[in-house]
Amino acid sequence: MPRFVVTPWEVKGKVDYDKLVKQFGTKLIDHALLKRLEKHAGKLHMFLERGIFFSHRDFDWILNKYEEGEKFFLYTGRGPSGHTHVGHLIPWIFTKYLQDAFDAELYFQMTDDEKFLFRRDLDLDDAIGFTYENALDVIACGFDPKKTFIFSDVEYAKTLYKTAIQVAKHTTFSTVKAVFGFKGSSNIGIIFFPAMQAAPCFFPSVLKGKNIPCLIPAAIDQDPYWRPSRDVAPKLGFYKPAQLHCKFIPGLGKGGKMSASQPETCIFTTDAPEAAAKKIMNAFTGGRGTVKEQREKGGNPDICSVYQYFYFLFEESDKKLGEIYRTCKNGELICGDCKKMLAEKVKKFLVDHQRKREKAKNVIQEFMLKD
Ligand code: TYM
Repeated sequence: MPRFVVTPWEVKGKVDYDKLVKQFGTKLIDHALLKRLEKHAGKLHMFLERGIFFSHRDFDWILNKYEEGEKFFLYTGRGPSGHTHVGHLIPWIFTKYLQDAFDAELYFQMTDDEKFLFRRDLDLDDAIGFTYENALDVIACGFDPKKTFIFSDVEYAKTLYKTAIQVAKHTTFSTVKAVFGFKGSSNIGIIFFPAMQAAPCFFPSVLKGKNIPCLIPAAIDQDPYWRPSRDVAPKLGFYKPAQLHCKFIPGLGKGGKMSASQPETCIFTTDAPEAAAKKIMNAFTGGRGTVKEQREKGGNPDICSVYQYFYFLFEESDKKLGEIYRTCKNGELICGDCKKMLAEKVKKFLVDHQRKREKAKNVIQEFMLKD
């Protein structure tokens, strides 16, 4: 039995990322690749330096193309089944860094169809409504309105469908069954859906009338979608899409990724700052039973969700992060104070993000692609 599971719909157990890379057949981002990226981007993003973006498919090929003068476009997305949480922001913040570094266009897919088809309890209109709610969070990340195109699958279907059926024609049921585990009882919408998620790898090339390389930044749970997309690409005369994969920010509970299905361990971008602070004060830590014991023996940052939040998103300074690690281990820093420190940072972040999110309401139509 595998000790962990990673699919586009479920992440369970303690993920062994080295094993996952072997299982999925992707490659670790090595030092040489980081150096090449740094040369073009000017600076490595914290997510690269800390190994949060850690794996890739064909990113070296994307850089070859770029160096030969062929620019790539970025493609990423969101399944709008509810409000955005801070885990979703990780690939988006990184995508913004890539947009700036490479002056790249971004196509952002909102798979309201996917969420409607997969979730029994979600009405179609609610999924479409969340497309617009989530788009505010995307815009709040600071993307360039002239180079960023957000679209709802349902509302942009006329354009997407033309490419999706090309993909579907060359993808067998056996393939998607093997990749996604579909069963006889799976609804037929779900079985077709991988062709919809593949379509944005290619339709920008169709729109522009020339082949353009595609780079997809996302967490590694989305990788199964790219396998059939990459198989089909040469059959349709397109380049294979390349990927950069990140790890999962955990929830505030014990183990597991941040997931909206456990709202008490999840920080949503729409949470009232005080409510988010409360969740943090209840977080699972690597602390001891009593303060006295912690002062004597120290805490364990390696299993602590609060430390992970500093590591992933909320402490940019390596020096300060190292200090948190060291003083936790030697018992100087106790969990109550550490949680308060994180809560203050998260509150500030939310106030700022929510201000940008409000402003995004005035410009959202500039970002949306319509048929
Ligand atoms: P969704 O809505 O499940 O997730 C949106 C993005 O967030 C990433 N993600 C995380 N990253 C870090 N830590 C976490 N705890 C965490 N949880 C989720 C996901 O990998 C994803 O990048 N089917 C997709 C929507 C989609 C898409 C795409 C995503 C359509 N086209 C292209 C990426 C790239 C979905 O439901 O994502």
